[in-house]
Amino acid sequence: MVKEKILVIGASGQIGVELTLALRSIYGNAQVVASDLREENELLKGTGPYVSLDVMNKEMLHVQIIRQNITQIYLLAAILSATGEKNPALAWHINTQSLLNVLDIAREERLHKVYWPSSIAVFGPTSPRQQCPQQTIIEPVTVYGISKYAGEFWCNYYHQRFGLDVRSLRYPGLISYKSSPGGGTTDYAVEIFNEALEVKKYNCFLSSETYLPMMYMPDAIRATIELMEAPADQISVHTSYNLAAISFSPAEIASEIKKHIPDFSISYEPDYRQAIANSWPQSIDDAVARKDWGWKHKFDLPAITADMLENLRQN
Ligand code: NAD
Ligand code: SER
Repeated sequence: MVKEKILVIGASGQIGVELTLALRSIYGNAQVVASDLREENELLKGTGPYVSLDVMNKEMLHVQIIRQNITQIYLLAAILSATGEKNPALAWHINTQSLLNVLDIAREERLHKVYWPSSIAVFGPTSPRQQCPQQTIIEPVTVYGISKYAGEFWCNYYHQRFGLDVRSLRYPGLISYKSSPGGGTTDYAVEIFNEALEVKKYNCFLSSETYLPMMYMPDAIRATIELMEAPADQISVHTSYNLAAISFSPAEIASEIKKHIPDFSISYEPDYRQAIANSWPQSIDDAVARKDWGWKHKFDLPAITADMLENLRQN
């Protein structure tokens, strides 16, 4: 059996840190090369190889893939929804060109597998707001959503045309305590925990009843690895799978936090991110992922809240 050698691009980010650590625990530290444009995250230091890498530099990326004998790539580098609206041209360029660079080299070097995340941001105001299905009207109105939707079709194209095994999940908003979120609309659901512990109040940039699909990071990491390890004949979606856990509003998460910190208070001052959130579904139907490769989330809102507060207190 060929020993897999994995390159994680964007390893210092919110997902990258935890995914790299999880992959290292499965495949061995030396088999998982972490890479990022920014410096190595403190939690990764001493746990395995790290290279400084700009995914936009295709030549250097290609050199590293050959030099390190890479067989699989997890591409996590991207500009997220809120930052994307501030510089749409840059977000489009980075989000699409990084994927094309990776897909092209993966095809040329006959890599075994590529993972690239999409997002619930592919859906737009014309998609169903509740239990949004895998296949439906998809008309994104953010540059981030447009870039993710285009990316999904590039993944499908490389699979159909070149037989590349590329797999993808439409993540909901992810909640975690190890590495900070990187400029998304769902970041409030992480910030609120830090502020609750530090100053016992939070001024939310979304309105109280803004429901969005969310997931705890351990569930997202497990979903990613389960998808990547599923036999190829169980994968029926070659664009990107809907993936869901829970949905809640800022008012609901605040009330859950109050159970642990009774004098916590929340105020609301919606900004430009409200329009982004309003364009996304409130909940997602992920029946296809559940049927194809047995996806099942574990963490509900009370469990996420208790675990976040406990770990942030320890940190
Ligand atoms: P993040 O911003 O926390 O991390 C991205 C990392 O990529 C950063 O460390 C950044 O330095 C790095 N990066 C940026 N440009 C790069 C370049 N040119 N070369 C190399 N590295 C570069 O993002 P994240 O939250 O970890 O998201 C990872 C992926 O998951 C993205 O594709 C994102 O769209 C997707 N996603 C995330 C969420 C979420 O809630 N976090 C939800 C849906 C989808
Ligand atoms: N959490 C991400 C964002 O808000 C969704 O892809 O941008």
